Amino acid sequence: MYPYASFVTANVSSPNTKDLRSLQQPGGLDALLAALTAERDALAKRYGNRVPLAIKIAPDIDDAGIEAIADRVAARGIDAVIATNTTVSREGIGHLPASREQGGLSGAPLKALATAVVAKLRRALPAGVAIIGVGGIASTADAREKLDAGANLVQLYTALVYRGPRLVGEIVRGLASPGRIR
Ligand SMILES: Cc1cc2nc3c(=O)[nH]c(=O)nc-3n(C[C@H](O)[C@H](O)[C@H](O)COP(=O)(O)O)c2cc1C
Repeated sequence: MYPYASFVTANVSSPNTKDLRSLQQPGGLDALLAALTAERDALAKRYGNRVPLAIKIAPDIDDAGIEAIADRVAARGIDAVIATNTTVSREGIGHLPASREQGGLSGAPLKALATAVVAKLRRALPAGVAIIGVGGIASTADAREKLDAGANLVQLYTALVYRGPRLVGEIVRGLASPGRIR
């Protein structure tokens, strides 16, 4: 996909794939990032075009873990970190029957947790490494929250289920006219 992609993401944070998240540990992560950046450099030479490389992390990582990831990302020349994937936490929704289901939780219950990871990453990463904030964005105000926490770009998924693709234009227009945030 290298010649076609605007950027490429390595997702090491899905809770639905056995042992995938162990690649977020410093040893495994470093080996993966070394291999990915070597491949990127070879492809950049072949195509004469450097495609940015991002890694996508989970929200269920403690502060030391976030700092260790930031350290490896900076050392290996990764261009961006996407924060975050879905959470395995059920905090705040334990009273709901659906909270007993397996798998990653997305949307509103994830929002604050993902924003906190963005803020911690911003403190730990050099300014040149972009942060793509994602988790519970369903409005211009939600997007602004991620940007204020230090994200350079934002993504959303779950809100599209409820609001459809028009939401994207609404948020972009909302961000462009700061007086009318909602
Ligand atoms: C049904 C579903 C499938 C997902 N599949 C992927 C995936 O294949 N790869 C990935 O990196 N993230 C995946 N995600 C995570 C989302 O891309 C996003 O990081 C997360 O849902 C938080 O954003 P949101 O609250 O806007 O949905 C998935 C999320 C959901 C709900």
